Amino acid sequence: MPFKKRAYLFVFITFLSSTLMAQMEVVTPEILPAPSSIIKSKGNFVLNSSTGIIYDDEFEVSANFLKNYIENGSAIQLQKNNSIQFLKDENILSPEGYKLEISPKHIKISANSDQGAFYAVQTLRQLLPETFENSTFKDKSILIQCLTIIDEPQFTYRGMHLDVARHFFSIEFIKKYIDALAMLKMNTFHWHLTDDQGWRIEIKKYPKLQNIAAFRKETLIGHYNSDPQKYDGKPYGDFYTQEQIKDLVAYAKTRHVTIIPEIEMPGHAQAAISAYPKLGCSGDQIDVATKWGVFEDIFCPKESTFEFLENVLDEVLLLFPSKYIHIGGDEAPKTKWKNCTQCQELIKKEGLQDEHELQNYFITRIEKYLNNKGRQIIGWDEILEGGLAPNATVMSWRGTQGAVEAAKKNHQVIMTPTSHSYFDYYQSDNDSEPLAIGGFLPLEKVYGFNPIPKELTEEKSNYILGAQGNLWTEYIADEQQVEYMAFPRMIAMSEVVWSKPNNKNYANFVLRLEHFHKRLEALDINYANHLYEVEGNLKPEGYELTTLTKNKTIKFTTDGSEPNLNSKIYSKPITIIQNTILKAAVFNSERKLGATFEQSINYHKAFGKKVTLNIEPNKAYYGSGAQGLVNGISGSDSRYGDKEWLGFWGDDLEITIDLGEEKAIQWIKTRFYNATGQWIYAPSKVEVTFDDGRTFPILEEPNPNKSIKNVRIWTNIKSRFLKFHIKNYGIIPDGQQGAGQKAWTFIDEISIK
Ligand code: ACM
Ligand code: ZN
Repeated sequence: MPFKKRAYLFVFITFLSSTLMAQMEVVTPEILPAPSSIIKSKGNFVLNSSTGIIYDDEFEVSANFLKNYIENGSAIQLQKNNSIQFLKDENILSPEGYKLEISPKHIKISANSDQGAFYAVQTLRQLLPETFENSTFKDKSILIQCLTIIDEPQFTYRGMHLDVARHFFSIEFIKKYIDALAMLKMNTFHWHLTDDQGWRIEIKKYPKLQNIAAFRKETLIGHYNSDPQKYDGKPYGDFYTQEQIKDLVAYAKTRHVTIIPEIEMPGHAQAAISAYPKLGCSGDQIDVATKWGVFEDIFCPKESTFEFLENVLDEVLLLFPSKYIHIGGDEAPKTKWKNCTQCQELIKKEGLQDEHELQNYFITRIEKYLNNKGRQIIGWDEILEGGLAPNATVMSWRGTQGAVEAAKKNHQVIMTPTSHSYFDYYQSDNDSEPLAIGGFLPLEKVYGFNPIPKELTEEKSNYILGAQGNLWTEYIADEQQVEYMAFPRMIAMSEVVWSKPNNKNYANFVLRLEHFHKRLEALDINYANHLYEVEGNLKPEGYELTTLTKNKTIKFTTDGSEPNLNSKIYSKPITIIQNTILKAAVFNSERKLGATFEQSINYHKAFGKKVTLNIEPNKAYYGSGAQGLVNGISGSDSRYGDKEWLGFWGDDLEITIDLGEEKAIQWIKTRFYNATGQWIYAPSKVEVTFDDGRTFPILEEPNPNKSIKNVRIWTNIKSRFLKFHIKNYGIIPDGQQGAGQKAWTFIDEISIK
């Protein structure tokens, strides 16, 4: 039956005998993201083949979605009658808000716009069994619990990003990704289409973007920090045709998702320059990049480059109706501009101070072009350097300072700080995780994100439009892995941006997520499951083990053996008085559920002693705070964002340890993270001062793992206080990733024998 608008007919609800009703499944409301309010009431609505949908033209997208969802998902064929009604309600002030009322007689969806109604439908969807998702619901009827849900989003911008330049993903997959966004009431897909390693959007005027810039000779294998770097020797590339893009944009519209394309400039332009070398400063022929990172060949701001970019943008604007166009702006090293006569002449002619102001000139010029076409730009927070283009929206990624600065200048901001939004980071500190770029961003940290920086007044916080999860794909080569990294962190982010702060509760979220796993499975989404892992923390009363989900038991061993059903049950913190290897896992009554947790605890002379710092760790990389430096636990070799590493951005450190009484010291050692690709550098100098006032350098010890620098000093000194002086590396040199930025220092355990 084709689905016509204004399908009216009258209600014939089949009367089911109560025995039949009793056999039917009732789904309890466990909605993700959490709605503003749910009030359950008595009874159930019976959805079956005599149910119909009634709606006005205005609600066409939502009503169609619902009809297709039910009819494709089950054997239920909707009739033309009015038991599910879409109603216009101008009193619902949020354009994305809705009221969903389910009573035994009818389902009423009230909204002020189709988008609001669409979100009501997504909620209703979660009240139906997950078997609707993959058309395995075979019954002819389903009971839906009566209730009233009133709901609206916390933020207007609710997004997910996907980088298709480093790795390419099919249009079919992008549709699946957009479907998932929409199910979670997200409304924006940020499509990162161009970068050094590939240009992925067809531009008819410039065929070499398709023939040359879309392909690279080969790709780095393993991690960027591996030494030596290795390549796979296989050509790689692809691009989206304009026809595919039009189809995708139309598809996204049926999910109320706006696609914001990103065309990177002036940096991350190596692929475009390889196709048209004159776009660069030197005009030299270069190749599409084959490894990750930041490259010096960026667009030269000459007239012919602007003409190229404007022509490209003209075609982009025809494909994407979005209000915003993302123009990149991040990580543009100025080396080539410094040595280019044309750039230097332009700086003089325009009366600019330096290359940063030249970048501002570049971005402002593009902004003007797009503003004249009725569009607004978004740029990464580097667009704040050298002055901000007058109408730009800032996407704050290097922490939240960019957000604060932009909002204080009355510019709109979208929050995507690495600390809470980079889903390419590791999500578990389990060694069995697939290779990732680095960092550590577990689910709970995403969930705990507050997009409003503390520094902002209430008035200025109105400039924060919302937040987004970013998925950079250097280390994500296939669609299964995109899903693994995106889920469930995207779900946590959906609640960050949709739900009211007072409706958020991590323990409750975890329960709903555990229940939601079945739906993700029905949708064939390859989510990561770290809910059944053990977490450990050293507390004054001993070593505490916790796990997230209910009705499970933690069992542990301290003799190095693998925990099994017969191992000791954890009931209270474990006292540590010697070196200990603790292994633990979560069990139900039949079997072990998650991965084994393993923790070596090194009992040394400074264990649990008092530590003072001259400066607090950066709040995004707080580790376990100062006491984490002497908790006997070493940070991960691959996750500098874990609970042990303390991160400091650009500052010199003074760390004092009070051993409580004078002690003979044989040696002192500590370690620093060293991942230059992530702007993390071991300090330039480490020294220690003892009670007698003498100061000695602490020197590097050989270590085959180049991402960790170990330092140690051998002594025969007695001292109560140890004062460490740790000098930050300084400014990152030219030619390195993050050149010109302050380097980070990451330190973890200080152990003393
Ligand atoms: C970025 O991660 N370079 C925006
Ligand atoms: Zn130049």
